[in-house]
Amino acid sequence: MTLPMVVPVDGLPPRVRIHEVGPRDGLQNEKTVVPTEVKAEFIHRLATAGLTTVEATSFVHPKWVPQLADAEQLFPMLADLDVELPVLVPNERGLDRALALGARRIAVFASATETFASRNLNRTVDESLTMFEPVVARARADRVQVRGYLSMCFGDPWEGPVPVPQVVRVAKALMDLGCDELSLGDTIGVATPGHVRALLTALDEAGVPTTAVGVHFHDTYGQALSNTLAALQHGVTTVDASAGGLGGCPYAKSATGNLATEDLVWMLQGLGVETGVDLGLLTATSVWMAERLGRPSPSRTVRALSHKE
Ligand code: HMG
Ligand code: MG
Repeated sequence: MTLPMVVPVDGLPPRVRIHEVGPRDGLQNEKTVVPTEVKAEFIHRLATAGLTTVEATSFVHPKWVPQLADAEQLFPMLADLDVELPVLVPNERGLDRALALGARRIAVFASATETFASRNLNRTVDESLTMFEPVVARARADRVQVRGYLSMCFGDPWEGPVPVPQVVRVAKALMDLGCDELSLGDTIGVATPGHVRALLTALDEAGVPTTAVGVHFHDTYGQALSNTLAALQHGVTTVDASAGGLGGCPYAKSATGNLATEDLVWMLQGLGVETGVDLGLLTATSVWMAERLGRPSPSRTVRALSHKE
């Protein structure tokens, strides 16, 4: 079988926008530096497979994430692509770099916990919000779309479970800065479906509408797909995923890859939810990338579809 049988269920959106994070969240954790040409080809292949939003790279300090130090070389190599290419920007220095290359979508990235804010951004939670303030204001003045990532929404490797009100406070603060969209990060993959629903409900009640919320699940405990289904049933229509299940976060111990885009597409296809993605082309892309990285993709769907008798 190369596609699942289509059996729709009530209460799901007709279409989901996949926010592909493989080239950024996926590759940022790779120890061996991937050549810039390979990254560019990866992104081109993802666009050809039908992904319309592909997070391309980060304009962070090159010493903090050496894998993405080639952002200035890579971004211009994507100029021919007719897809959205968001980039991560932590501060005004990063924004200057991104705007100089014509980026039209940026993402700032906050943390719901103090320990991760300190490890990832060298700031307290509130100091990082202060750092983002001029970034979001300047981006909006330039009509650049802003996504606000929020990490450690469900659990933190140093602090343990993260109380829902603590997450809601920072989520609201990001929206109040002027972010167009919020992405709820389960950075270490510990969430379960009831927890997802509880957070989405609390956000709704605090005035952060589900229509502005995307979900960003890592698959450490194999919960990413069930959590995604719970989010879709709550009305979420933007789902982050990483081709081939690449990924992790260099500043969060025990973070493994994101939800694999292929696993997500298989489920959505079976549910009759439109994604615009060609699963065959996407799987071929992840097999190609796995060969470049020298190890097989962790995605079950990639393994099943590329298995040769
Ligand atoms: P810092 O050391 O506090 O930086 O790092 P600073 O503001 O003190 O500046 C020090 C020097 O760095 C200055 O240079 C700056 O110009 C330079 P000097 O004046 O000394 O010569 N600098 C920069 N250079 C280039 N680009 C920049 C930049 N900023 C400052 N943008 C900083 C603070 C935010 C820069 C640092 O902590 C950083 O780069 N962190 C990035 C960490 C990261 O990328 N983590 C992974 C992404 S988050 C993630 O994966 C989670 C997510 O997937 C969701 C989830 O799963 O939860 C999104
Ligand atoms: Mg992530």
